Order: sequence, then C-alpha cells, then structure tokens
Amino acid sequence: MRIGFFDSGIGGMTVLHQALRILPTEDFLFYADTSHVPYGEKMKEEVREYVINAVDFIANQNVKALVVACNTATSIVIEELRKQYDFPILGIEPAVKPAIEELEGKQKKVLVLATSLTLKEKKYRDLVHRIGHGENVDSLPLPGLVQFAENLEFDENKVVPYLEKELSLFDLHQYSTVVLGCTHFPYFEGTLRRIFPEGVDFISGSVGTAKNLKRILESKDQINQGTGNIEFFKSGIKVEDPLTLSNYEKLFKILDEF
Ligand code: DGL
Repeated sequence: MRIGFFDSGIGGMTVLHQALRILPTEDFLFYADTSHVPYGEKMKEEVREYVINAVDFIANQNVKALVVACNTATSIVIEELRKQYDFPILGIEPAVKPAIEELEGKQKKVLVLATSLTLKEKKYRDLVHRIGHGENVDSLPLPGLVQFAENLEFDENKVVPYLEKELSLFDLHQYSTVVLGCTHFPYFEGTLRRIFPEGVDFISGSVGTAKNLKRILESKDQINQGTGNIEFFKSGIKVEDPLTLSNYEKLFKILDEF
C-alpha cells in the first residue's frame, strides 16, 4: 500500500521530497487541492470543508498512512481527521520549538513565516504559549510566496521586491532563526537566505514530519519495497504532471540547492 500526501498545492512536495530521501522504497499518492488554493487567506470553515472532502477521496485510494503536508490544514482539522480514519494521519506545524531551543544564550529572536490562517489559529497560539518565550517570537504572513510557488515563479527579480517590502518593517538583525511555517516556503529558502543577514538559520517541520512517518511505518512493520512512484491528483482528478513543469524533479532540484 502507498502513502497519501495532501496539500492545497505544490507546497506539500517540499515534505514529500524529505520523505522520499528516507523512504525511497515507498510509493506515494500526492493530492494538491489546486481548485481551492490558496487556503491561507480563506475562512476556516471553508478550508475545513475542502480538506475533509479531499481526505475522503484519498482514503478511498488504498493508502496506509496520510501526511497532511500543509500547516494551514493541520492547524484547522487534523484532530477531526484522526478521529475519522483508522490509518495514521500525520500533520505539520511551524517548527517553533526547535527554533526557540536554538535561541538558548543568544540575545536574538525567532521569526515565524506562515499563512494568515495558520498564524490566527488557536493551535499556533497554543503552541507558542506552551513553549514559552512568546516575547521572542515574531510572525509574518506571506501569502505572496504561496502564489509565486503556485505560478512556478521562482525568478528573484519578482520575488525579492515582494519579500523586501513585506520585511521592511522588521529589523532582520534581531533574528537568529526563521521558521518556514508554510510548506510552500522552502522553495524560497535560497532567496530568503540572500535577504537575511549571514548566519541566520532556516528551519521547517518537513524533516521532522518525514522522520515521524518513517518511525510509524517501522513500528507497524509497514515498510514497502516499492519504487518511489508518485501518482498525482489535482482536486480529485488524476493528472500525469500536476506541476506544468516537464516533471516534478525540477522542483526537487530547487530544494536540493541548499
Ligand atoms: N502549503 C500550505 C501551508 O503549509 C498552505 C498554503 C495556502 O494554500 O495558502 O500552510
């Protein structure tokens, strides 16, 4: 059986990329809800419904586990999904905890980049509260990056002016760690690194989620001997290449650059 991956769009591919590194013999189904992307600027109830419908579809496709590779969807509906299905459902959340741990002893702060909805949600606020040191955590929604990624627009001439404008009110020297709290953002890690001062760390939850997935499959003795095949669906419709690039490996190449 294969593993389902779900996101509003191509952001989830940044998590699948990590999963493929440590689970190369698994087969995958990747579902992008491209009819409804972006989630991050919509109302919570609307997004909840999209995710429930998509996961209902994926659950009928012979999957042994599901990764909700979307911080926004995770924050809204992960508990509800877990109650509904008997296969493991993993989510992803902004990696605030490791970011705070890295602050230890430094007179610096953490900047969390995510969608508006993720940052507004109770799950995020509870997370920051639970970890403590909330006074050292700033946040910024960057919906433009979701749009750039969906349009496969990685040209820095377009992306850099957007980021510089959004970050213009922040003193970038006060941060030692930036959390990429949206799965669309790792495509822009290289660009962000060039904007932030040298030495700033960038972290996302994707490695942790991939490791968790491996641990769960191992504990259930469910490791496959497949080929790393990926079947793609766009909002319930099977597609050969959901990314309109000649193949998704080009996306992985961007992620391999740093
Ligand atoms: N990739 C998603 C996330 O991690 C959401 C992007 C969007 O649809 O706005 O939050």
